[in-house]
Amino acid sequence: MKRLEEKHALITGGTAGIGLETAKQFLLEGAQVAVTGRNEDSLKAVSEELGSAVQTIKSNAGNIADQTKLATQLSNTFPKLDVVYINAGDVTHKPLEDWDENNFDQVINTNLKGPFFLIQALLPMLSDSASIILCGSVSARIGLPQSSVYAASKAGLISLARTLSGELKDRGIRVNILSPGPTQTDALEKFGLAKEEENALREEIKNLVPLKRMGTTIELAKAAVFMASDESSYMLGAELLIDGGVGNL
Ligand SMILES: NC(=O)c1ccc[n+]([C@@H]2O[C@H](COP(=O)([O-])OP(=O)(O)OC[C@H]3O[C@@H](n4cnc5c(N)ncnc54)[C@H](OP(=O)(O)O)[C@@H]3O)[C@@H](O)[C@H]2O)c1
Repeated sequence: MKRLEEKHALITGGTAGIGLETAKQFLLEGAQVAVTGRNEDSLKAVSEELGSAVQTIKSNAGNIADQTKLATQLSNTFPKLDVVYINAGDVTHKPLEDWDENNFDQVINTNLKGPFFLIQALLPMLSDSASIILCGSVSARIGLPQSSVYAASKAGLISLARTLSGELKDRGIRVNILSPGPTQTDALEKFGLAKEEENALREEIKNLVPLKRMGTTIELAKAAVFMASDESSYMLGAELLIDGGVGNL
């Protein structure tokens, strides 16, 4: 039997990077999958690549009204929800002096407030052994310059994994956090750097990692499969770091 057979899974931000690879691995393990994203072309590309096995939904993780709409839309197509992988994230990094209230709110809304209200909106359809996986970052554990608001939002998610596990455990629902270290995706391109600067940053980041390389999306996706499946049934309120050693060495 496949590891996610008969499970219904939602992945936010599932049109690229870690979320997209996780959608592919969930499908291979027998799950029915829905993914969200903001860009219609990317959603269409996922439909074309993965076919009707995947439901694509346009939804902005940072828009609170969208969270209720997403829950309603899912409840029309899925009988229940066994896995929620809150993966969409705003990775904006900048020096302290460059932040303004709008940028701050956008990062916190996308990474912390939206996820909180999404979980609240999904409560009625969560199955009694549901696994909620929050995507953190090793940045919440280290003092990386320019990561202040981003890292604080991810630290908030570590706390949410614990408190919501405490609150939902009597329903059999587990909330855990999967924290990547530097991983090869297009996320760095969103920093708005010139190509040369971006490549230099990539090299700098690799050197920060004890394993001297960036992780791959498949390494993260395999960890997500474990956390989504019943194999992780004794894991509650915990953090799994898949980070090449950045957070511990
Ligand atoms: N890559 C890394 O090195 C790294 C390290 C630590 C943690 N992480 C975390 O891992 C997660 C995924 O990162 P990634 O590197 O895979 O990113 P990515 O390659 O840039 O992909 C991000 C995905 O999320 C979607 N997305 C972004 N903002 C969204 C929003 N507001 N609402 C809905 N969808 C949204 C994107 O689609 P649209 O833009 O079309 O909406 C895309 O599908 C993030 O939470 C990030 O913080 C990544």
